[in-house]
Amino acid sequence: MKEMNLHGRDFLKLLDFTPEEIMYLLDTAADFKKKKQNGELTEIYRGKNVALIFEKTSTRTRCSFEVAAHDLGMGTTYLDPSGSQIGKKESIADTARVLASMYDGIEYRGFGQDIVDNLAKYSKVPVWNGLTNEFHPTQMLADLLTIREHFGHLKGIHLCYMGDARYNTGNSLMVACAKMGMHFTVCSIPKYYPSRELIAVCQEIAAETGAVIDFNEDAVAGTKGADVVYTDIWVSMGEPDSVWAERIEELEPYRVTMQIMQNAGSQSVFMHCLPSFHDLNTTIGKQIKEKYGLNEMEVTDEVFESAQSVVFQEAENRMHTIKAVMYATI
Ligand code: CP
Ligand code: NVA
Repeated sequence: MKEMNLHGRDFLKLLDFTPEEIMYLLDTAADFKKKKQNGELTEIYRGKNVALIFEKTSTRTRCSFEVAAHDLGMGTTYLDPSGSQIGKKESIADTARVLASMYDGIEYRGFGQDIVDNLAKYSKVPVWNGLTNEFHPTQMLADLLTIREHFGHLKGIHLCYMGDARYNTGNSLMVACAKMGMHFTVCSIPKYYPSRELIAVCQEIAAETGAVIDFNEDAVAGTKGADVVYTDIWVSMGEPDSVWAERIEELEPYRVTMQIMQNAGSQSVFMHCLPSFHDLNTTIGKQIKEKYGLNEMEVTDEVFESAQSVVFQEAENRMHTIKAVMYATI
């Protein structure tokens, strides 16, 4: 693996990284994964510490940062959605300067991309985006690693995204596919397409990398032959409950079902960033069932539990890829 110098870089969105740099992060993650499987210790950063700010809740991202940091020998401080002064009593600029004086890196999960950008502007140590409304770049590295593990390569792989593509996961997948020369199809109604500006930026990148970006309102035509069928929840964190009725009505035609997977073909895999509403074993799942009569939302339980589903491999890869990001940028 060719070493690359990304030390001191922030990790705010994939748009800031070249395809070669992204590939380097994936190779580094794959290497860390192998070491972990072999029980090799990787405490390269003993004595260092990272701050993990979560203004929204998390299972995968938080645990990935904590385990990855500990594996690298680092200490962690978790700042929960209500447990710090951030935003309420202290500005992002002041918080950045305080934390950067004590820590070697700062993770931020929260609302607008402008907040994490601002944090990075005032921090002298690397800042990592653990999800904003607009982007979820660490998720993308895990997704790309999972796709590469499964198909052996990324170039030319056809990924079809079903549902609300104008939020963090959809936006970021379009960027990731554009960067890596993949074929990205949004399967949804135009209302849920990424912004015109972001599409234009990605089309420009695609012209260089050979990627294809297209849109299809027809769930069957859009998923035909897709290698990856990807979806996310219909209502994201921070959105009001009042949008549920509309989302259900507009996005139900884009639920990932067994018919959709069969239409994609036997080579296809199902992916989801998680958490997912595929059964009634969650509080929200039960509430939606009571109010709207749905047993499953963006994906059926049958697909979620099927042999084509790689969602738990994808979730595990969050940890290996986040480790690579911290290792490379600190
Ligand atoms: N995929 C993801 O970011 O999961 P969490 O919200 O649990 O971190
Ligand atoms: N779009 C989802 C992603 C969760 C990982 C959300 O923002 O809630």
